[in-house]
Amino acid sequence: MTDIITIDGPGGVGKTSVSRGLAERLGYRLLSSGLIYRAMAWYLLQGGWQPGRPADLARLNALRLRIGPDGGVYHQGERLDEALKSDPVSDATSQISTDPAVRELANRLLKATVQGIAEEGRIPGVILEGRDMGSVVFPQARHKIFLDGDPAVRAERRFRELADKTPGLRRDDVAQGLAQRDARDAGRDVAPLKPAADAMIVDTTHLTLEQVLDTILAQVTG
Ligand code: DC
Repeated sequence: MTDIITIDGPGGVGKTSVSRGLAERLGYRLLSSGLIYRAMAWYLLQGGWQPGRPADLARLNALRLRIGPDGGVYHQGERLDEALKSDPVSDATSQISTDPAVRELANRLLKATVQGIAEEGRIPGVILEGRDMGSVVFPQARHKIFLDGDPAVRAERRFRELADKTPGLRRDDVAQGLAQRDARDAGRDVAPLKPAADAMIVDTTHLTLEQVLDTILAQVTG
């Protein structure tokens, strides 16, 4: 049986680095639900969709995304990941991900991908990263981890991540954008950001990546 570990939490908390580290150490496949939502938003923006309007579901229904063995999201054979990290795409993503029909599409793709991996039987497990992986989409997961952290520390991490690639980027803008998206993710009606009742909560504020990984590995391999 394919082992499922979910890693949820707010932006800038270190989910991606932690999930990647866990996948490497355990030999598991990494699946990022955030990348799927981002790819959907990117595709809508490409088609001229204006943020603030309802997501164009007919267009999204026609979208064929594939999650590669490297964890990347592919569209027509092209890996999209870099294009998905920009601020306009981040904002659009946080908007469309409040729509239950959009969430349904993303969840279907994730579940089908996990099922494909299970049927192939070559990889022992998957790490599912996002906001509602443990609470809503994979409630049967063996381990559910919820990463949390001080908003100022998360904003600083996100700023450092983006600063090299974005000349003129302002700390305050990054912090404000993060706070807005957190509020939207936590306040939405469908699948709001919150830990599953049986999640292990890890506060990453004062921990290094290695320490977070060790804490989680002690739990999942213990
Ligand atoms: O994890 P991330 O920053 O790449 O996520 C981008 C956006 O997608 C974020 O605003 C919240 C949304 N998202 C979501 O609603 N549910 C998920 N499972 C993952 C991401």
